[in-house]
Amino acid sequence: MKKILVVANWKCNPATLKGAKLLFNSTKKGIKGIKNVEVVICPPFVYLPILSSVISHQPLVKLGAQDCFWQEKGAFTGEISPAMLKNLGVDYVIIGHSERRKYQKETDEMINKKLKAALKQGLKPILCIENVSQIPKFLKKRGDFSGLTEKELSSLIIAYEPISAIGTNKPCSIDKAKKIRITIEEKLNKNIPILYGGSVNSENTVGYIREAGFSGLLLGGASLNIQEFFQTLKNLNLV
Ligand code: PGA
Repeated sequence: MKKILVVANWKCNPATLKGAKLLFNSTKKGIKGIKNVEVVICPPFVYLPILSSVISHQPLVKLGAQDCFWQEKGAFTGEISPAMLKNLGVDYVIIGHSERRKYQKETDEMINKKLKAALKQGLKPILCIENVSQIPKFLKKRGDFSGLTEKELSSLIIAYEPISAIGTNKPCSIDKAKKIRITIEEKLNKNIPILYGGSVNSENTVGYIREAGFSGLLLGGASLNIQEFFQTLKNLNLV
């Protein structure tokens, strides 16, 4: 059976390494017994090396980054490349989150370059979009792989994240989310898993999977609250 993907986007939290280890270890404990969910933890870059060294024995827990650059190496101060992430044992990378589009002024063009670089490196990018116009052109045209192989492209995941629902406690209704998921699917020329993100919690989580038909979820706030996160996973385990 295909696992439900749950992505925990810690954003710029917690403030200390001690806090990150605590949250990570509690999350790992809570996952025991959960069989049909794969959890991807996306901490800030600085915590990735230490968390990567303790993750290995948990097949259903993976590490993700919250961003990456499009070049492999060179004079790009402050940037982290997909190759560096891959070498660290990171499997996933969030790309084009609306907070980066807003605060770092990331454009569709930059996001496209990041997406391709991550796919080339064998990472699984989670491309965040808030509407269908943000789907890259090459994913809409039949037979257009834009220099990528079909195999490289098969790692791509899309996350539908309406801005009005992010961090607001105002989740998108299940009906509306379902309609948008169907519209996104119709635009794509390939079969790509689609996640929902935006004010997901233990109460609304099952609806997005069972009723709206998403392949998984992207959680921000609820991934930092360990009780809420466990409850979310437990509820999903029953789907
Ligand atoms: P939220 O964040 O769950 O806190 O709304 C989701 C996100 O930003 O991906």
